[in-house]
Amino acid sequence: MFDEKAFENRLTTSWLGQDFIYVEQLDSTNSYLRRAESDKVGHGTICLTDHQTHGRGRYERKWVTRPSANLTFTIAFKPSRVAGLHVLTLASALAITETVDQCLDVECDIKWPNDIYYKNKKLGGILTESVFTGNQIDRVLVGIGLNVNQEKFSEPIDQTATSMYQIAGGKSFKREPILAGVLQRIEHFYSQWQRFDVKLLKAINRRIIGYGEWVSLQVGGERYDGKCKFLGINEEGALVVLTSNDEIKTFSYEQVHITTD
Ligand code: BTN
Repeated sequence: MFDEKAFENRLTTSWLGQDFIYVEQLDSTNSYLRRAESDKVGHGTICLTDHQTHGRGRYERKWVTRPSANLTFTIAFKPSRVAGLHVLTLASALAITETVDQCLDVECDIKWPNDIYYKNKKLGGILTESVFTGNQIDRVLVGIGLNVNQEKFSEPIDQTATSMYQIAGGKSFKREPILAGVLQRIEHFYSQWQRFDVKLLKAINRRIIGYGEWVSLQVGGERYDGKCKFLGINEEGALVVLTSNDEIKTFSYEQVHITTD
């Protein structure tokens, strides 16, 4: 079981995760914070569970993990602006890659727009959702699944998923300090995001698979003609490429898939 006391002792943030909701079992941490009344969810509130029964990924995919083995949580932000929200997802991915790297002495990557990879295998994923009151944004929910101590995965994802346990060659990790490390970094990146600090974009870009390379793109399921040079993400979190016709094009979050083959 997640040890709340041990986590509190390791937490060094000033606002992120100071309001911490632990629920032993629930459907989905994103759904939990989505259902909650606005005044019960502050900026930086976190909900974490040990057993998520209806974990969700992007495109209505399921997110299934072994109970008590991994980190399964959602952060609620109440940002003062909505522009560039996708950068927040990527900033969270950056925080995870840096924390995992420090624990394992490896280099993980961000797979645009929302995954954490190690050597072609998925180590974690992020589901970002916005909650509106009328047409006003009330909160942004950044739901994070990080495979920490899962020894094995069932078919078909056994071929494509990995965990810190597997990367470390069969070593288990305490989840509480990992979460504290991730949150400390996210808090720092959040303040950079608020200030439009270009250092944040640069740090994200350096970590994204394919950055600066000629890549193949799939746009809306169709393969885009010719290779494109991946110039990075912009302040909106959109993908910027140079096409083989020397045009600069940007693609939004949902449209595109990158492959580096
Ligand atoms: C993806 O890979 O498409 C994103 C997966 C996100 C999973 C996390 S686990 C915590 C939070 N609650 C959910 O239901 N989903 C996210």
